[in-house]
Amino acid sequence: MTQYPWKMVCTSCDAEYPALEVRYRCDCGSTLDVKHDLARFTDGRAPAPTRQGFDARLASRKRLDRSGVWRFRELILPLEPENVVTKPEGNTNLYPAPRVASWAGMDALWLKHEGENPTGSFKDRGMTAGMSAARALGMERVAVASTGNTSASVASYAAQAGMKAYVFVPDGNIAYGKLCQALAYGARTLQIRGDFDAAMSLVQAVCQKEGIYLLNSVNPFRIEGQKAIGMEIVQDLDWQVPDWIVVPGGNLGNNTAIAKGLVEMKAVGLIDRLPRIAVIQAAGANPLYNAWHSDGVLRPVKAKTLASAIKIGDPVSFGRSWGWLKALGGVVEQVTDQEIMDAKAQVDAQGIGAEPASCATVAGLKKLVASGIISPQAQVCGVLTGHVLKDPDAAVAYHRGTLEGIESSSANKPVVVDAQLDSVLRALD
Ligand code: F0G
Repeated sequence: MTQYPWKMVCTSCDAEYPALEVRYRCDCGSTLDVKHDLARFTDGRAPAPTRQGFDARLASRKRLDRSGVWRFRELILPLEPENVVTKPEGNTNLYPAPRVASWAGMDALWLKHEGENPTGSFKDRGMTAGMSAARALGMERVAVASTGNTSASVASYAAQAGMKAYVFVPDGNIAYGKLCQALAYGARTLQIRGDFDAAMSLVQAVCQKEGIYLLNSVNPFRIEGQKAIGMEIVQDLDWQVPDWIVVPGGNLGNNTAIAKGLVEMKAVGLIDRLPRIAVIQAAGANPLYNAWHSDGVLRPVKAKTLASAIKIGDPVSFGRSWGWLKALGGVVEQVTDQEIMDAKAQVDAQGIGAEPASCATVAGLKKLVASGIISPQAQVCGVLTGHVLKDPDAAVAYHRGTLEGIESSSANKPVVVDAQLDSVLRALD
C-alpha cells in the first residue's frame, strides 16, 4: 500500500485517521484536516520545496507544473501523478485596481481574480484536489450540495474524469450561469425545494447511504487544493507577503484553506511572516460575523441575500475555520446587499468584473478602511471568487434599475434607439 506523507486529523479532538480513505468526519462528528508531514523537508527525508523550484515550474510544459494548484504539490497533496485530474487550473490574474482602491479609501489594491479559473470560480482549485483523491480511492460517483459554483466545477471535473456527478442545488436560488454549467456538463441536477443548508444535509445523508463520494468542502482534500490561492498570491507578488488578504465567507472553506496554506508555507520557511485575513459575510447570511463578535457560538440563521453564492446560514466549516482565522489575526465584517452591489459596480466598471458574492470582498474592505482597521497604505489583496458572467441577471437588473430593494447609483442603462443614423448619433452621449 502506498505510504502518503500526510494523515487526517480531527479538528476538535486530534484523533488521527489514515491518509486516504472515504471519510469526511471524525467519529466525534467534527471535520478533519489533512496534516502534512512537514518535518520530512527539514530532516532530509524529502527535498524541501523552494521559491526557485516553484518559479522554475512556471516555465515548464509538464502537466502538473502548468497547474496553479499542482505546481505547489508538495504542500497540497503529493498523490501519484496518474491520479491527478487537472485541466489545469489556477494561474489567475492579480490585477492592480487603482479606481476601486480609491473608491474603497485605499492608496492601492490588488484583486486576485479567481473567476478566471476553468469553470469561472475558485472552486476548481479545491475540485482538482478532491477529484484526484476520488480517483485515487477508485470512486465512480461524486456529489455536492451547492449554491452553484461548486456544482459547475464538480460537473466539469467529473465529465473530464469519466465519473458520474450528482448536484443538489436550492430550487430557484441559483444563478443562471451556474445552473447552465451543471446541466451542460452533464451532472444529474436535483433542484431541492429548500435552501442550501437543506441541500447540504441531504447530500451528506445520500452519500453515506449510497457510497457516493462527497466533494463539498467538508471533504478535507478540497481544502488542500484551495490553499493554492494564497500560495499563488505570494508567488505573484514575487514572494512578498501582503498585509491583508480579504475574502468573502459562506461555507467558510475558502478562508480556512487560504490561512492553512500560508501557515504551512511559513512552517517550511517559504515566507517569513503571515498576512492578516478579513472574512466578509453578507449581512443576511452572517453566522460567523455574529459568533465572532459575541461568544463564539455558531447560531445558524435563515440566510437572505442577493449574493446567492454565499447565501448560507449554517456553514459546515465553521468549527475548523476558527483556529485558522485566529492564526492570521483575522477580522470578520458584514455588508448589506446594497453595499455589495455598489462595490460590484466599481469592480465591474474597472473592467475586471465579478459576481455579487465576490464583491463582498471590496464592500467589506471599504468598511474596514473607514473604521480604521485596515490602513489606506496597507498592501491588500482582495480575492474575487467568481466570474461576472456567473450571474448576468443581477448585473443586468442592476444597470436597468430593476433590482428589487437596491438603488442603482452607478447604473449604466442600456439605450433603445431607432435604426437611423441621426437617432444613433443623438444617443451616443
Ligand atoms: N464566493 C463565491 C463566488 C462562492 O461560490 C462561494 C461559495 C463563496 C464565495 C464562499 O466560499 O463557501 O468557501 O466560504 N460557494 C459554494 C458553492 C457554497 O456551492 O458554490 P466558502
